[in-house]
Amino acid sequence: MLSENLQNLFNAQIAIENTASYEYLHLAIWCASNGFDESAKFFFKQSDEERSHMLKLIHYTLERESVVKAGYPAPSTLKIETIFDVLQTFYDNEKKVTASVYKLVDTATEERDYNAVQFLQWYVQEQHEEETLARTLIEKANLIGREGSYRYFIDQMIGKSGG
Ligand code: FEO
Repeated sequence: MLSENLQNLFNAQIAIENTASYEYLHLAIWCASNGFDESAKFFFKQSDEERSHMLKLIHYTLERESVVKAGYPAPSTLKIETIFDVLQTFYDNEKKVTASVYKLVDTATEERDYNAVQFLQWYVQEQHEEETLARTLIEKANLIGREGSYRYFIDQMIGKSGG
């Protein structure tokens, strides 16, 4: 069984992944409604991935005979006006998730719960990949700039990044 402290942190992480899934759905819908069809596909997929991250945590918490408090994310307060806002939101959110994963790893290490530490390594690696992806997308979008057919080229670039 996880300690009470770790149970609370695992539940917080479940909520964070659920919120990420919900917010990426919001980004996907904004993209689809604003002519960024390839970007929409990317964010629909990201939303599904975040849900899978949440489920992985739920299954692990249950396997450790601990309590999962299912919760719904708060309604999105995201204010998205441009595709650059979409990418910045993605990056900021991934940084938040990473900070939260690190807090979990710190606590599991302090408690010498090496089973949890090992389980969480997958999230450490995943966050490295997702933060790098988000940062790279911002850098490429900045290179493309905001002139002429930039909307088309940024959309293609996001679509090709695969996620
Ligand atoms: Fe599962 Fe990208 O956080």
